[in-house]
Amino acid sequence: MATAATLPPAIDYRHLVQDGRLHGSLYTDPEIFAQEMEAIFHRGWSFVAHDSEVPNNGDFVVRKVGTQSLIVVRDSKGEIRIHYNRCSHRGAVLCQTSSGHRSRLTCPYHAWTFALDGRLIGVPDEEAYPAGFSKADAGLAPVARVDSYGGFIFVNLVPNGYSLRDHLGKATDLIDGLLGLSPVGRIQLNAGWMKHKMRSNWKIIVENQVDGYHAQMVHGSLLKANQTFATVRDRKPTSPTRVQDFGMGHTDIDHTSDYLKANDRLFRWTGGIDPARLPNYVKAMQDAYGEEDARRRLIGGPPHSMLFPNLSLAEMNIMVIEPVSPTASIQYTCPVFLEGADELNARTLRRCEGALGPAGFLIADDAEIGELTQMGVANLEPEWINLSRGMDTEEVLPNGVKRAGLMDETSQRGFWRHYREVMSASDHAMGRENG
Ligand code: FES
Ligand code: FE
Repeated sequence: MATAATLPPAIDYRHLVQDGRLHGSLYTDPEIFAQEMEAIFHRGWSFVAHDSEVPNNGDFVVRKVGTQSLIVVRDSKGEIRIHYNRCSHRGAVLCQTSSGHRSRLTCPYHAWTFALDGRLIGVPDEEAYPAGFSKADAGLAPVARVDSYGGFIFVNLVPNGYSLRDHLGKATDLIDGLLGLSPVGRIQLNAGWMKHKMRSNWKIIVENQVDGYHAQMVHGSLLKANQTFATVRDRKPTSPTRVQDFGMGHTDIDHTSDYLKANDRLFRWTGGIDPARLPNYVKAMQDAYGEEDARRRLIGGPPHSMLFPNLSLAEMNIMVIEPVSPTASIQYTCPVFLEGADELNARTLRRCEGALGPAGFLIADDAEIGELTQMGVANLEPEWINLSRGMDTEEVLPNGVKRAGLMDETSQRGFWRHYREVMSASDHAMGRENG
């Protein structure tokens, strides 16, 4: 084990992350990236999968959390299990595909075979092992903690620390807002994921996801080409839309309350679809929630949020960020299908393709700007990044949510404030207090 003398000097995150400015090394330094994987992704709660992705016993997906590859599988009793993707014999990766269906998990190397719940159930030529060898001691390693909210499954790779509910805090309102657009309160993420490799640090993608300042500039071509992307069109300097800091690093662009203030049009969040084209969905919502509440939900629409550290409820899409290195990330996107809203789901799929598909407008624009930012911060001067916009005009709501104008950087500051707390605490968690 490394001694204090051999550890690199502790990184002072309270210096690097200040209110209103950030040090550029946060996007480039390999040691900072390694500490983030440990402190944020391994020791904190991260989104890993949605339960609708593994609907049947034997369904699995493989996901990366921090540096760790994990198998999320529904076992033969219907329970979700999450195992490290590592054979307990000599360490080979068990699942090489990103998703599939198995009745058991067999290692490609020497064919040790595991039940879906992780028990070792088959060892070729088992008699050759010495006395005392027991299959009962050689199952797959489960992750330390698994919990879920609204079907969103989160993991934490250490046994102690705050709960998922503490981590989500007020952000459960955002998840509830999305689920509440389904007449049965459930969503399905079963259209498959689009993957885009971005040559930018994962935090640049997080910041961009809740940035109300850039849309008119960066997405200008989309606005000219396709006027149905109403939520982008509305992002004007004069927009009453607010950015919000929910605490715990969770942030949001709040279109919902503006749509509700207007209180006149259903489905602005779909690009303005005529409600007459969705009669069964509207009726199902009215039957489920009553006419007045259904109307409120269908005017307000979904959240546009970034849940710390890797899950974005991006209106009718889910976006997940996988850090790869200080200068690369993978962005996964999937349309949100609402259970009980087939009429709308077909349209949601087309909008997802148009905005976020390989030829999509939005994701290409944001990928390019992320890459330009990454290239820029590789230059050493000026050292600091300005993040002060709107600092003097923020308001705090009675529930503690901080709000400011659409073009302000309150959401980015909310992310970074929590980042600083987590990364500073990790100095102690990783034994650096003696370094
Ligand atoms: Fe898996 Fe040998 S490494 S069976
Ligand atoms: Fe954008």
